[in-house]
Formats: sequence, structure tokens, C-alpha cells
Amino acid sequence: MLSYQHIYHAGNFADVHKHLALMLALEHLSAGTSSFSFYDSHAGRGIYDLASTEAEKTKEHQTGITAIDLASKKDSAAARYLKLINDFRATHGETSYPGSPAIAQTFMRHGDRMFLTELHPGEHRHLLDNLGQYQSVDISRRDGLETIAYLNRPHHLRGLVLIDPSYEIKTEYRDVARTVMKAQSNWSSAIYMIWYPILKDERHKQMVRSLLSLGGAKAFESKLMAPAAVAGERMQGSGLVIFGAPETFIEQLEAAMTDVQQLMFAGEGEHIINKGQPTGNHPLII
Ligand SMILES: C[S@@+](CC[C@H](N)C(=O)[O-])C[C@H]1O[C@@H](n2cnc3c(N)ncnc32)[C@H](O)[C@@H]1O
Repeated sequence: MLSYQHIYHAGNFADVHKHLALMLALEHLSAGTSSFSFYDSHAGRGIYDLASTEAEKTKEHQTGITAIDLASKKDSAAARYLKLINDFRATHGETSYPGSPAIAQTFMRHGDRMFLTELHPGEHRHLLDNLGQYQSVDISRRDGLETIAYLNRPHHLRGLVLIDPSYEIKTEYRDVARTVMKAQSNWSSAIYMIWYPILKDERHKQMVRSLLSLGGAKAFESKLMAPAAVAGERMQGSGLVIFGAPETFIEQLEAAMTDVQQLMFAGEGEHIINKGQPTGNHPLII
């Protein structure tokens, strides 16, 4: 049974971390001349209202997007992310927040395509309402990992795969690593971005080891650790494993995360990068 709903967590520090990295990857893809495809395995509803009863209940956005004001840092990636959010609000309402599909939509050009899977019936309905009007967007109520694993004919050579599960089921960690292994053997030129929560019991560790080993020297892990006052009883930080991104990506992400964590965490948090090793140096354990 699916019980997770992202509306309770929308705009929190983990969303800022994930969506900023997503924006950097989309900036890179949309700067190229040929078309690209974006696959979002766990799309959510696309647009969130931070004034909703659910978001108000947790108030997680208050130590995330709501804590950021980058008016003075005009040329940074963090400032471009904030501009994207503010432009979105000008169209969709002051308290709206774009989820990953709505962020991606702002980068789509003629010929680019977006493929979204969302299994929860209610979230899927919202997603259709929020992004169903775009011809370049394909929305289906299917299992996201299965869809990505069997991507044997991706629409374009260039592209990005975002894997952002709710990890409600413990086996999802193993399933994510297996999915990426299968997907990569079919579509090796894509950028892969896998999000996971950093919980006290560190149950992500084996998955991250497997992913870094799959991506080899092209892979890295980005961890945004929250200070105790922000971290909940469970989520201590937000993690991403990224591979296939351009060489300048790590530097850009580090600068952006330094900016935002100063504002979200008053400099108390930590952003850590762990690089993968050349393939073959570590056994692949999945
Ligand atoms: C963390 S949220 C996604 C947030 C979204 N990617 C964003 O950044 O705006 C995870 C979503 O995955 C959906 N979900 C859970 N299991 C799924 C599955 N097997 N396939 C597709 N979607 C699933 C949940 O209903 C939930 O909406």
C-alpha cells in the first residue's frame, strides 16, 4: 500500500538539495543543441501548495525553501534556483512550489520529451491535472523502477533519469541499485540522479556503494547533512548519487550547496562529496 505523500515534505531541505542538482543537470542538457529526454520514475503530483493543511502540519518548508533569500547573490546557481521558484510563483500562486516534473518543464524545448511515472492514484490524478496539458509530457500510472529498468529504447541519446522513491519498503534500496544497473546497460549516455534519505540507521550505505561502483570514476555522492535542530528524529540528511554529469558539475553543486546551507542552516550543516573509484577497483555487490 502506498501511504507516502510528498505534500507533507515539499520544499524541505532535501527538496532544495535535490531540485538544485536537478536544475544544474537540466541547464547542461538544455544548453546542448540536440534534443533530450527526462525520465522521472517517482514523479509525485508536480505542483505543491505550501499553504495546504498537509504542508502546514509539518512546516518542513520553513527550514528549506522558505528560509532562502538570495537576492544579493545574483550570479550563483543558488540564485538561479531561487529565480526559477519565484518565476513559478508569479504564474502559479505565491505559496506554490514546483516538484521535479514542473522544474523540468521550465527547461523543455521543442523536440525534448518528458516521461513521468507515478503509482499513487491520487498523486497521479493531480499530476495529470498539473502537467497533462503539455504534448511533450507522457504521464503513466506505472511502477517507476520497472519502467526505468526496461528502458531499452530511450527516446533520445541525451537525457536524464531521476530516481526519487519514497523508500517505504526496505527492499527499494536494493531494487534501485538493480534498476540502475539494468538501465545503464541500455542507456549509458544518460545522466543518472538517485536520491535517498540519510536516516540514523544508515540503511542507504549498501545501495550507495553499489551505485558508486556502477558509475565508477564518473560517479559521485553528494550529502547534505542537517544540523540537529533541523534534522527530524529520522532524516539526518539528504543524499544524491549522480553519474554521467559534466566535469564542472561537482564544483557548481558545491558552490550552490555552500550558499543555500548558510541560509537554511545558518552555516551549521555540512555538504560532503564522495567520489567514485575507477570501475574495477571495487566489486559490484547488489
Ligand atoms: C519523494 S516523492 C517524489 C517527489 C518528486 N520526484 C519531486 O521531487 O517533486 C515519491 C513519489 O513516488 C510515488 N511512488 C511510490 N512508489 C512508486 C512506484 N513503485 N512507482 C512510481 N511511483 C511510486 C509516491 O506516490 C510519491 O508520490
